[in-house]
Amino acid sequence: MVHRILSGMQPTGNLHLGNYLGALKNWVKLQDTAECYYCVVDLHAITVPQDPQKLKQATRETAAAYIAAGIDTRKSTLFVQSAVSAHAELGWILSTLTPLGWLGRMTQFKDTKARIKYKANVSEEEQKKAAASIRKIVVDDVSIIPSDAKLGLFAYPVLMAADILAYKATHVPVGEDQKQHLELTRDIAGAFNRAYNAEYFPIPEPQILGEATRVMSLRDGTKKMSKSDESDYSRINLTDDADAIALKIKKAKTDADPLPETVAELEKRPEAYNLVTIYAALSDSPRGAVLEAHTGEQFSTFKKDLTEMAVAKLLPITEKMRRLLADPVEIDQILIRGEEHANALTQKHMREIKDIIGLWNV
Ligand code: TYM
Repeated sequence: MVHRILSGMQPTGNLHLGNYLGALKNWVKLQDTAECYYCVVDLHAITVPQDPQKLKQATRETAAAYIAAGIDTRKSTLFVQSAVSAHAELGWILSTLTPLGWLGRMTQFKDTKARIKYKANVSEEEQKKAAASIRKIVVDDVSIIPSDAKLGLFAYPVLMAADILAYKATHVPVGEDQKQHLELTRDIAGAFNRAYNAEYFPIPEPQILGEATRVMSLRDGTKKMSKSDESDYSRINLTDDADAIALKIKKAKTDADPLPETVAELEKRPEAYNLVTIYAALSDSPRGAVLEAHTGEQFSTFKKDLTEMAVAKLLPITEKMRRLLADPVEIDQILIRGEEHANALTQKHMREIKDIIGLWNV
């Protein structure tokens, strides 16, 4: 079987260190191992209100971040989800096979409350209403979903399954927070194969790789680093300059103890664990090796090393992103080429899928 990878990110606000270490950095490494498709998932972004102009720009910026981080468009196909109609089309087909109960269990709805708050163009009242709807969705009894809750937000994970299955992808590199969505994708693929008695879709494997599968907030080591956190000090953005990175790391929460000797001791200290994890992932070394080199150091000293490491690894990406965005035509051309390639493969699959289902395909 072909080893084929698909993954994507939402074009909502700046990408941050969690996106980079949990996903993007791994995507770059995987380029030589498989046929890779990397997309910007703008159809997912509109499950919460967006400003149309800002969305277009954020889509371009996300594509620029992929290239700047090392996605090589001669090796990988880079494209925008909404430009490839198979995603939405297969999303519909898969929605006819997905029980509402499976969607009701998806915990990411809880986070969406925060995501909505992040959209600057949405009124406070609208945010509260949407958050209330979403809280109610996270229940087993889907019959109590309020009538103004949007179907697309609830069906979000089905579209994600379609993203993956439209390519018959075998591997999906993501951060840990996407694991549940991947399990649902596997279930939906199995449901299709059983319903039509066809071994059509491969059951895709999640690839949750590296030391930083779940990067935590710099302000609270028990909370995920996220675009939606109100405090910009909670995350390092891929657009931050050296001063901002230095300041955020300096202000990052830690405890008073020095770096311990073992990972087991570190695990009891969420903020310390997070900073060592970030260092480990940035330097491509295991946590244990980082501790060995820094045991007994105070965090004030370690943070200086971490800042140097972060600036050395992230700034070239930021600068390349800026250069790329100065010529949007070039990015758009790359995306159009990617779109053609993605359409060629998925149209072939859609013809096969329609044939299996008995849809008009003459
Ligand atoms: P999104 O846009 O929230 O995040 C993009 C990728 O970044 C990872 N990530 C993190 N990893 C480690 N620590 C963190 N703090 C952190 N925050 C985010 C995410 O796990 C993800 O890999 N539903 C997806 C997008 C999507 C997708 C797909 C992914 C749509 N279709 C098909 C894979 C395949 C999402 O919202 O990711």
